[in-house]
Amino acid sequence: MNSGPLDHLAQDLADLDARGLLRDRMAGDLDPNVLDLCSNDYLGYRAGGRLIQHACRAALEHPAGSGASRLVTGDHAVHRQLERVLADWVGTEESIVFTSGYAANVSMIQALAGEDDLIVSDALNHASIIDGCRLSRAEVVVVPHLALDDMRRALRQSTRRRRWVVTESYFSMDGDGPDLRALRTLCNEFGAALVVDEAHALGVMGPQGRGRAAEAGVRPDVFVGTLGKALAVQGAFVAGSRHLCHWLWNRARSMVFSTGLSPLLAAVALAAVGEARADDAGRSQVRATGCLLREGLARSGIAIASQAGPILPILLGSEARALAWKEGLAAHGVRVQAIRPPTVPTGTSRLRITARAGLPAHQMERVVEVFAGVANGWP
Ligand SMILES: Cc1ncc(COP(=O)(O)O)c(C=O)c1O
Repeated sequence: MNSGPLDHLAQDLADLDARGLLRDRMAGDLDPNVLDLCSNDYLGYRAGGRLIQHACRAALEHPAGSGASRLVTGDHAVHRQLERVLADWVGTEESIVFTSGYAANVSMIQALAGEDDLIVSDALNHASIIDGCRLSRAEVVVVPHLALDDMRRALRQSTRRRRWVVTESYFSMDGDGPDLRALRTLCNEFGAALVVDEAHALGVMGPQGRGRAAEAGVRPDVFVGTLGKALAVQGAFVAGSRHLCHWLWNRARSMVFSTGLSPLLAAVALAAVGEARADDAGRSQVRATGCLLREGLARSGIAIASQAGPILPILLGSEARALAWKEGLAAHGVRVQAIRPPTVPTGTSRLRITARAGLPAHQMERVVEVFAGVANGWP
């Protein structure tokens, strides 16, 4: 049949498939026969009974839906309570919650930077940061990953009204991060604002899980955290000064023109923050699991492209190779997603393991065995 304006999609999908770039659905359901090593559930709260109990209690007290944009009538007491607790946790005057990290980054950057401004952005920043930069209409200078000297050059050469430096604190596909103290100093020198996305460090790193900036003793001007990764719920927040949050309330388009975060999920997130703040044991377990995997895989001759933290990328190069490894692991009950372009640059397709709390050492030994087998061409 060849009759509609969308007929080309069948061919486009076939092209993606031929190039190893087709995205299929990978079940995220908790399955006792599958060991999931690719969720962002670093503290292991997703399957944990405690968060489920919080959710059951919250369901009796809070509606599932907020009812409207928070600027209309969708603003609930539990949102404000969550925002207060998040700001206290990360040590800022205020915070403002969004329905996702994607929505937060896109709208925050668009609301803050304008066409007279310069944004200096790390080449491996998340797609939500890239899209926010594009929508802002600012001049965007994309610098090589973690290249402080290039950032300095871009700031020095610019005569723009305002300057923004945007980075992740712990890069989700690479398991590395910038020297945040050096970045803070650089921003201070040029009067630039430092925007740090702590999506993969919040809950996992720093004192009380406050992230890598807190670990380094650095205060970003704009702090982004997500509720859907270590906190295992959904949503995100931007934290900083009262004026910053008030501005975003007025100008962040995904806040103004979108239904507010589910009050039920806000209540669960509130409980998750309480758990995560106190969970030094969970953070130690994440570190221990990461070390076991790093050491075991290295012993088996599998190179890990990161030095520290819960993200362990295994660079495989081609899409086909990454898919073959993923399938080989799946056949032995180990779930790791193949990460391919456009999520990562062409030629750097990879498997990306995430270590999490609550995984016993003997299970990690089995994982290492399975990886070694797949690397050696097991069927
Ligand atoms: C650095 C970073 N920022 C933002 C996001 C988006 O967060 P969310 O999944 O809540 O939309 C992600 C998600 O992968 C991320 O890795």
